Amino acid sequence: MKKVLCYTLFLTVFTVLGCSQQSKNSNDVEKKINSLLSQMTLDEKIGQMNQLTDVGINDDVKAQIKNGSVGSFLNTMSPEQINEMQKIAVEESRLGIPLVFARDIIHGFKTIFPVPLGQAASFNPEVGYNGARVAAVEASSVGIRWTFTPMMDISRDARWGRIAESCGEDPVLTAKMVVAMIRGFQGENLADPTSIAACAKHFAGYGAAESGKDYNTTWIPEELLRDVYLVPFEAAAKAGCATFMCSFNDINGVPSSGNRHLNVDILRNEWGYDGVLVSDWGSAQQMIPHGFSEDLKQAAEQAANAGMDMDMMGFAYINHLKELVNEGVVSEKTIDSAVRNILRLKYRLGLFDKPYVEIKDSTVFYAKESLEKAKQAAVESAVLLKNENNVLPLANLKSVAVIGALADAPADQVGTWCFDAEPSHSVTPIAAITEAYGKDVKINYVQTLKYSRDKNKSDFPKALAAARNSDAVLYFVGEEAILSGEAKCLADISLQGAQSELLTELKKSGKPVVLVVMAGRPLTIEKEAKEADAILYAFHGGTMAGAALADLIFGKAVPSGKLPVTMPKMVGQIPIYYNHKNTGRPTGKGATLIDEIPVGAGQFSIGSTSYHLDAGSEPLYPFGYGLSYTTFEYSDVQLSDTVISLNGKITAKCTIKNTGKYDACEVVQFYMRDLVGELIRPVKELKDFQKILIKAGESREVEFTLTTDDLAYWHSDMKKRADKGKFYLWIAPSSDLGKAVEFKLK
Ligand code: BGC
Repeated sequence: MKKVLCYTLFLTVFTVLGCSQQSKNSNDVEKKINSLLSQMTLDEKIGQMNQLTDVGINDDVKAQIKNGSVGSFLNTMSPEQINEMQKIAVEESRLGIPLVFARDIIHGFKTIFPVPLGQAASFNPEVGYNGARVAAVEASSVGIRWTFTPMMDISRDARWGRIAESCGEDPVLTAKMVVAMIRGFQGENLADPTSIAACAKHFAGYGAAESGKDYNTTWIPEELLRDVYLVPFEAAAKAGCATFMCSFNDINGVPSSGNRHLNVDILRNEWGYDGVLVSDWGSAQQMIPHGFSEDLKQAAEQAANAGMDMDMMGFAYINHLKELVNEGVVSEKTIDSAVRNILRLKYRLGLFDKPYVEIKDSTVFYAKESLEKAKQAAVESAVLLKNENNVLPLANLKSVAVIGALADAPADQVGTWCFDAEPSHSVTPIAAITEAYGKDVKINYVQTLKYSRDKNKSDFPKALAAARNSDAVLYFVGEEAILSGEAKCLADISLQGAQSELLTELKKSGKPVVLVVMAGRPLTIEKEAKEADAILYAFHGGTMAGAALADLIFGKAVPSGKLPVTMPKMVGQIPIYYNHKNTGRPTGKGATLIDEIPVGAGQFSIGSTSYHLDAGSEPLYPFGYGLSYTTFEYSDVQLSDTVISLNGKITAKCTIKNTGKYDACEVVQFYMRDLVGELIRPVKELKDFQKILIKAGESREVEFTLTTDDLAYWHSDMKKRADKGKFYLWIAPSSDLGKAVEFKLK
């Protein structure tokens, strides 16, 4: 709790100081931008709008920098090379405009934190803040001042590989996590050499890709877009996220790079955003295969007129913008406004004053405190899904069998998007368990399957023998890093290879089996959930995953993670998410399942409600779910009032008692439902949450406030407002629990 409070205080102080400082400096910066812009040729302006990837330094690259035909590079990783390129820009180009160097640092540069989906399971924005701050300090030390993170795409589909990079299915949780990440990357002042510009991506709707297939089309009604998908983006814009990135997908037929409604009407005009909007890699060019642009020239025209400032590896602007301006199809005013945004970023980063990176030795990498923070993040990211007979934490053991591909997979445990990670620094579960407990507990290690897709069962007998000779079994399963992330989508999200069969084999030992899952997505593990005695869902936990898991398994740490995404039983349930609509024929838990249907049953004899005959209507585990080694008891909720008037607010209080034996953190969740709407509303919507530490036997009171703004949603006239009438709210440990309390909006 202390940490959470500190974080809130930090944000408040930061916001107050940040705002006043920003407004003081912004006039000066705008003057400088205008003066520079007035000296720039059209070619130089278009050059600023061009972003290229690193190909090393050759004569061609030198010439491009010198004549100002490139404004930014991504993927240049040597500080010496960055300085050499920067020197040409600053000293040899006509106006000396510095370059900005970018890189994807998604959940760590060297010290890798859990994948963002895992970080979101912590329900602790401080975890996101720490991960981003550590990444910024490490990456800026080699000259990277811009990263394409955080991804804030809402995802309701675990087939989509990029769900690993997301904060899951909920807009409020995502918004809180990504705002903290933005603060972590950008620091208190973007001009600080350890600050790097963050990027809100992918704008927008990318996570709604049809059938969970990357880059796929999306169809999102504007009300849903605004109520769900845009919520984190608006929060990011308000938090001063320095850049935004267009997404690859189209929404309702319009690719984001050419989507003026999104990029101008909403981002610029409604939200007043003045940062850079960069394309995704080649996304302007890709409007041709989308069938939106006839050729690269039309793509350049559509993207520029739709407000895309910078073309990342699309070559549309550099090849065609000048011609388009000369033809009068794209106005110079449009170009100027894009260039203003780009120069503003460079001023804000302090690159005009300090263009070079100070060459340091590598001591900022893997600093002790960074590794501790990464470990704490991995501890908080693990979700305890099952713990029959309190198998966990393991205690009073003489021996334990350690089995499974992920027990020793240093490159896989860091997860997707870790270009700069060094697996030799990963602390794997087997290494951590051996080091911490190897002296007291006999460890019978048989990896058995060498990687997640391995189907070779030749070591099964050895694994079973190890299980039989041990007091308990720790079985580490999951996914290789290559199975999640960009373009890594799956139609079958069950355990790969022979991992499931090995669990059945291990159960023959009669020993308690603890299943530890290290994956980039929620996997469909219904069968395994029945077989395993305990399940710890750890996602890909990063550099310190093994050390964190060892602490959790042996009780040095207590699980506190909650699911940031619904876990389906079967892939056919997707999309499945907690904040769904009720339908006109909702189903309770008692629906007749396929094996219960009498042979020859009449068509309507088993009822007519909304569910799958084989899966029911419930997920395997709901959003917000997660157990602890202790137990918490929630009191009834007390409301300050049962009626809320327009522009009023209501507070809800609840006392939570730790009724178990461990001091532990609980994620207290605050949900709401609008019972009758002009447009029907979800059965539950998370409005807020608090993560609090409660000592064993102690109680804590938690209070949440709901304003009429929180009750509002986008109506069919595209106005956001609240409907009068009846509402429910819950203070609960999970999205499927708690007692509804009613109030009315007058
Ligand atoms: C991804 C982006 C990433 C960009 C630059 C694209 O393929 O979609 O998320 O930032 O590449 O590496």
